[in-house]
Amino acid sequence: MSKPPQHDRVVLVTGAAAGIGAAIAAAAVGAGHRVLLTDIDEAAAQATATRLGGRAAAFRLDIRDSEGWTKAFDAAEAEFGPVDILVNNAGVITTGNTRDLSLAQHRAMVEVNLLGTMTGVCTAIPRMTERGSGHIVTICSMSSFLPLPGYAPYGGTKHGLRAFHHAVALEERHGPLDFTIIHPASTRTGMLDQELNDPTAITAFAEKPVTPAEVARAVVETFRTKPTEVVFPALAGRVQQIAGAVPQLIRLLVPTIEAKGRRERDRLLRTGPTRLSDPSGGS
Ligand SMILES: NC(=O)c1ccc[n+]([C@@H]2O[C@H](COP(=O)([O-])OP(=O)(O)OC[C@H]3O[C@@H](n4cnc5c(N)ncnc54)[C@H](O)[C@@H]3O)[C@@H](O)[C@H]2O)c1
Repeated sequence: MSKPPQHDRVVLVTGAAAGIGAAIAAAAVGAGHRVLLTDIDEAAAQATATRLGGRAAAFRLDIRDSEGWTKAFDAAEAEFGPVDILVNNAGVITTGNTRDLSLAQHRAMVEVNLLGTMTGVCTAIPRMTERGSGHIVTICSMSSFLPLPGYAPYGGTKHGLRAFHHAVALEERHGPLDFTIIHPASTRTGMLDQELNDPTAITAFAEKPVTPAEVARAVVETFRTKPTEVVFPALAGRVQQIAGAVPQLIRLLVPTIEAKGRRERDRLLRTGPTRLSDPSGGS
């Protein structure tokens, strides 16, 4: 089956109303693709899509809803044609020490970050396989390598998501689909604003946060290059990837990481803006 041109793919992005998802949608439209922006917040997704013009459209999708996934793929097909690229981006976080979080808070992260994304992958595989092509891109996190205090359930979902993604990619390696997973460092979105408000989440501030636009450029580049796994930024990501494999090393490093993060968080709260995200939607 002939593949669509590299520069004009149909892309479905989850969690695209704001933050990294909105920036991915903008970068994808800028690169010539057509994008269905999906989000649980339909009005915000619509507002973001309207800003992006005629190559963007919006659709309400709560990624926990399996029927919603089918409808979203159908909506993309009706608007632009069959989905070539699925970007699993939607995610939620509640930071805090595990003993202080409710079971409902733990469960909410598992249901969105892990089960919701799994549901999307399970929806995409048969549809894309039947067409003979498709690219599944998962936005994960450096916390899929690093177990950090304040991030136990979130990191748990991201460790699980990485394992799931790579195992599925191996199962499908003789088929027509491509799989990419990308792990951004701390990024200036509403999620980081949430973390700024929580003193247990200080490790997020140990390194300078990147912008959603920088992450989005790296993501849209993978539509062409289809790498197996990307850490962003590359050098810091590699170091964290290696450190994360050795829990004894993390134990030694965490006090230093926390001290650095605490200093930077204190400085931001003292002198900087109370929010780090770009309210216009992320780029
Ligand atoms: N911001 C960071 O520092 C950072 C770092 C690494 C990875 N990530 C990951 O990047 C992804 C995007 O994060 P972000 O920082 O842009 O977050 P964000 O909170 O700014 O935006 C997330 C978007 O997802 C939507 N959403 C939430 N629950 C949903 C659901 N059930 N179904 C559909 N949409 C839903 C929200 O409405 C929102 O528009 C997440 O998977 C996150 O874990 C973020």
